[in-house]
Amino acid sequence: MKQAWENRYHQGQTGWDRGDVSPALNLMLHHTGLSQGKLLVPGCGRGYEVIELARRGFDVTALDIAPSAIEHLRNGLARDRLRATVLEVDMLHWRAQQPFDAVYEQTSLCALDPVYWEQYENQLYSWIKPGGFLLALWMQTFSRGGPPYHCDPDSLKQLFLPVRWHWSEQLKTVEHPSGRHETAYVLTRI
Ligand SMILES: C[S@@+](CC[C@H](N)C(=O)[O-])C[C@H]1O[C@@H](n2cnc3c(N)ncnc32)[C@H](O)[C@@H]1O
Repeated sequence: MKQAWENRYHQGQTGWDRGDVSPALNLMLHHTGLSQGKLLVPGCGRGYEVIELARRGFDVTALDIAPSAIEHLRNGLARDRLRATVLEVDMLHWRAQQPFDAVYEQTSLCALDPVYWEQYENQLYSWIKPGGFLLALWMQTFSRGGPPYHCDPDSLKQLFLPVRWHWSEQLKTVEHPSGRHETAYVLTRI
């Protein structure tokens, strides 16, 4: 898994990378009312949102499995004289020492083979404190296979169950440079 993602960075096969902060970030943060606290960004990629969140004063931890993505983010933070905890780890196995106020997950679920989705949902649930938020930006491809794997919000309600998560209405649809769409939801961890 690690080598496959690293290869994508080396070969420039990074169609998910918009080169800037997602326009959904501000809207989702506004929905939560959070202006400070501990945020986790799993599958952060080059980490434009990590830098933006650090700039806004959040205590940010970022995870990615690809060394190139991690290096890019660390360089960006150093360039802007910002601080965040940036870890090269497998998010399917990483354990948090303390729960987070929120997780910002941008096309990380769709990067994972669906056989890992239940494990990943468990990870998200364990990382977020009760009453905390999952800011989710999920991609719709309307095709088979992946990555990216199609994230159908109605099907995801069978994964992010109402006994564990309270779903917001759909907050925004974001056009992606790749021609695909992402939809933004904020889920509250019960
Ligand atoms: C589709 S990209 C999204 C990157 C970033 N969130 C964005 O939207 O620009 C998925 C990212 O997840 C990382 N990734 C995939 N599997 C992972 C895993 N098991 N643990 C940590 N990171 C992983 C990849 O290296 C890649 O950077």
